[in-house]
Amino acid sequence: MADKKRHTSSRKLDHLRICAEEDIECGDAGFGDIRIVHNALPECDMGNIDLSTRFLSHRLSSPLFISAMTGGHPYTKEANARLARIAEGFGIGMGVGSQRAALEDPQLADTFSVVRDEAPHAFLVANLGAVQLRDHGIAWAEGAVEMIGADALAIHLNFLQEAIQPEGDHNAAGCLSAIQELCAGIKTPVIVKETGCGISAETARKCWGAGVSAIDTGGWGGTSWAAVESVRAGTSKRKEDRHLISLGADLTGWGIPTAVSLAEVLSTGSPVIASGGIRSGLDIAKSLALGADLCGMALPLVKPALTSDEALTERVEAIHRELTAAMFLSGAARISDLRKARLYVTGKTRQMIGRDDPGRFR
Ligand SMILES: Cc1cc2nc3c(=O)[nH]c(=O)nc-3n(C[C@H](O)[C@H](O)[C@H](O)COP(=O)(O)O)c2cc1C
Repeated sequence: MADKKRHTSSRKLDHLRICAEEDIECGDAGFGDIRIVHNALPECDMGNIDLSTRFLSHRLSSPLFISAMTGGHPYTKEANARLARIAEGFGIGMGVGSQRAALEDPQLADTFSVVRDEAPHAFLVANLGAVQLRDHGIAWAEGAVEMIGADALAIHLNFLQEAIQPEGDHNAAGCLSAIQELCAGIKTPVIVKETGCGISAETARKCWGAGVSAIDTGGWGGTSWAAVESVRAGTSKRKEDRHLISLGADLTGWGIPTAVSLAEVLSTGSPVIASGGIRSGLDIAKSLALGADLCGMALPLVKPALTSDEALTERVEAIHRELTAAMFLSGAARISDLRKARLYVTGKTRQMIGRDDPGRFR
């Protein structure tokens, strides 16, 4: 058990380091295929564009969401503290990384609870894997929520990663019923999120049927866990892990592009967080025009989170400036106006969505 705890915690540090230092982005989230129709007569004031929005009854100052990333190793505490200060300062939402390590070893709880200390008013989302939920039940889910005083709980689906991890859990049976029992038994809203392979319309229907309050696409085209685990397998000293290097590399093309996943999930219900390969304010504008409620970013915030509060502030301000300009040029003074913007959808994204008008899914 002590070994298992140590593994979970050191894996968290490996992931953060690999994401900060290696090239682990793969694919195409599809935003290059999407254009918002330019409005040459916007009839609004760029100085008065209102980025504020609501999500699960919380008021947020912008639709930018800091996706689940870190915690679980002593060295990750400062990064979580920085992200939380930025969430509090800007009035945006934030998720923490999987809290499994701290549920296995309560001494690590402060690497997560620091986010509530630094962000007493922010919309914070706890995080637990579907496998851990199935194996440990609602008590772990409640423990994760309590640990950070969370406003919502994300249950992450990461079976591609599990398939490539040397210590991965290859049995996915029973996760849907565990999610259903959780939704019936907990007051905190439950969000189901993927972690880079996207969610299809079929999976989304099962999740809504289980009673989830929101879905996060976690689509393909950004951080690739196939690439991350392939790099990690390359550092393993165990001979039997070598095949995982090529298995990971071969699977970097697996997944539903975020723009396509977003359209699929929106065809079944809402609210929806678009995430996976969202890299700019313009990608956020396109996601909102497709119908997303919030837009999550992880990888673009990793390096700034390891650097300084100033670096994070600059990144968030740049994203907000781009989103504001895109809204102005669409004639959208508010987020609700942007949801009515017309889109051109071309190329593979159009072929995969199979409809001409994905912006009208709601
Ligand atoms: C360093 C790092 C650690 C992550 N850890 C988790 C995690 O513990 N739980 C989770 O649900 N998602 C985790 N993710 C996935 C992100 O929340 C997000 O779904 C995914 O990275 C796609 O977004 P991106 O392309 O903007 O990075 C992590 C991402 C990164 C970059």
